[in-house]
Amino acid sequence: MGGHLSFPRVTLPKERVVIVTGANTGIGYETAKWIAMMGATVILACRSEDRAREAMARMNAEFEAEKDRKTPGVVDYPELNIEFMKLDCASLQSVMDFVKEFKLSGRQLHVLVCNAGIGLHKQAYTEEGYELMFQVNYLSQYLLTAHLLPIMKTSGEDCRIILVSSEAHRYSELNLDRIQGKQFNEQNFGRILYYGNSKAFQIMQMFSMNRRLKTSNVTVTSLHPGMVETEVSRNFKDMKTFSVLTSLTKMVGQMKTPFEGAETTINAAVNPELKGVRDVYYINCKPASINSRVTNIQNQETLWTYTQQCLTKGAFLPDDIIKCLEGE
Ligand SMILES: NC(=O)c1ccc[n+]([C@@H]2O[C@H](COP(=O)([O-])OP(=O)(O)OC[C@H]3O[C@@H](n4cnc5c(N)ncnc54)[C@H](OP(=O)(O)O)[C@@H]3O)[C@@H](O)[C@H]2O)c1
Repeated sequence: MGGHLSFPRVTLPKERVVIVTGANTGIGYETAKWIAMMGATVILACRSEDRAREAMARMNAEFEAEKDRKTPGVVDYPELNIEFMKLDCASLQSVMDFVKEFKLSGRQLHVLVCNAGIGLHKQAYTEEGYELMFQVNYLSQYLLTAHLLPIMKTSGEDCRIILVSSEAHRYSELNLDRIQGKQFNEQNFGRILYYGNSKAFQIMQMFSMNRRLKTSNVTVTSLHPGMVETEVSRNFKDMKTFSVLTSLTKMVGQMKTPFEGAETTINAAVNPELKGVRDVYYINCKPASINSRVTNIQNQETLWTYTQQCLTKGAFLPDDIIKCLEGE
């Protein structure tokens, strides 16, 4: 019983605007392509314009092939409605530039998929002084959601924020004394722990935001895509543990293709039955359990306050944005 769950092939209006961060490869690529093939306008928020434009050309070629095959659920537009906008999650200033440009477009925003991520990076710090995985995977995309929230709140019913997290959230801690890991050096920095932290923080963000948004049109959900064969391993090819784990996963046939890895994200973004659903962490398109450290409300609120302190320090969170985040 049960079988393989996927997303329903729905038709989306081109007025439905979706942003996918890190959409030029891997899970984000398939997510952006499929949502666009179902008719929506999709903005690829990527750090490299060259990689994004190459991905857009590939998406259109694959779209042509799907139309020729008469794949169910694929619209018959001459071209996909896809656009590039620059976003480097390793820079809070880049997030602010992205937000400014998006606001200038005067567009509504219905779905924001926070997918961009780096895995198990060695110890490194951004120009703003934060641990790289903390900032790329969590802080920058928190800032992005915060600034785009006022637009989503006025974009009509059923607006969704989707945070692509990971089962790695289970191996995490919330310890503000070493949340940036500056007391460690390259040898003893816990790459697995700090990746797990960044993924746990996304799920904690989901709960904290939903508590404040519960009477609004905007819902936040999260998910684990599965073990997916993508470029995510580029930062940890040197780690023996992971090459062993990857080989074992491949041997038992558990490794997903990027399309299979994207199914849970696409389902969270487009499934009409999930309208109004919040606070769910999905695996294989089904609700899944979450580590109790992450569901602990006190921990979530501690992280929320710390995050806002990080962002107000650089004047990245003005009062009107904080008020909107706080549900006012
Ligand atoms: N693959 C898995 O098994 C797995 C498992 C659990 C969770 N996840 C999560 O799934 C998400 C997608 O990962 P993936 O497997 O598709 O990895 P991927 O193939 O490496 O793709 C990651 C995407 O994020 C982008 N990105 C990285 N750093 C960025 C930055 N500073 N600013 C903007 N974009 C940036 C990359 O852009 P560039 O191409 O320019 O680097 C790329 O588009 C991540 O959040 C990851 O943590 C993956």
